[in-house]
Amino acid sequence: MELIIVKNYEEASDLAFEHMIEVVKSNPKANLGLATGSTPIGLYDRMVKDHQTNGTSYKEIKTFNLDEYFGLDPQHEQSYYRFMYEHLFKDIDINLDNTHVPSGVGDIQENCNQYNALLKENPIDIQLLGIGGNGHIGFNEPGTAFDSVTHYIELKQRTREDNARLFFNGHLEEVPTHAITMGISNIMAAKKVLLIACGENKADAIVKMVEEEPSVDCPASALKNHPNCVCIVDEAAASKLSK
Ligand code: GLP
Repeated sequence: MELIIVKNYEEASDLAFEHMIEVVKSNPKANLGLATGSTPIGLYDRMVKDHQTNGTSYKEIKTFNLDEYFGLDPQHEQSYYRFMYEHLFKDIDINLDNTHVPSGVGDIQENCNQYNALLKENPIDIQLLGIGGNGHIGFNEPGTAFDSVTHYIELKQRTREDNARLFFNGHLEEVPTHAITMGISNIMAAKKVLLIACGENKADAIVKMVEEEPSVDCPASALKNHPNCVCIVDEAAASKLSK
């Protein structure tokens, strides 16, 4: 795992953009694993700006998102599909048929099976990740097995509170209690993993991920076993590291 400490969110987004665009430019048919949450917004803004000013094309790119809330229709204003559409898809030349977000409605086990099959057919070239305050990646909460594949999961209270603060206008009761998420082994199968962590709220999770032995208590710690994982961490998120 390569750990790169940068000053702030802007620098983290700039550097993440460089990693992402290198993959897109070297392979115009790349499969991108994408993430939601507040962290990747700066990166998506840069991808949109680059597309508009430099014409980088996403016509043959396919995208695969990590997760979706259970029970939210893609058109729901807090769904992760909607997030991706508003922050990225609508402003680049991607074919929407090539964008994939797990479905949180309908037969959830069937949705998991279909997503696993899709990921098998489409190996991911770069998987973008944020990290939860409790060390979750995607919606793989602490306790999730490292060999997990796409599954249905109950969200921890802290995850729902964090996501209520940033989204859902602060209304905890509106945050779904469950989600569908790629499993840790799906994430580990990506050729490259790019994790971004910014802000003090992530400092404890970063210490666990970096300084402790891989353990299901901190799902992100699985990444230590990935052969090509770059973690971009700002000074605030790195502030509790001992070395
Ligand atoms: C959610 C998402 C994760 C994301 C996390 C952190 O739980 N499922 O993929 O990494 O939030 O969000 P933020 O970037 O807003 O801190």
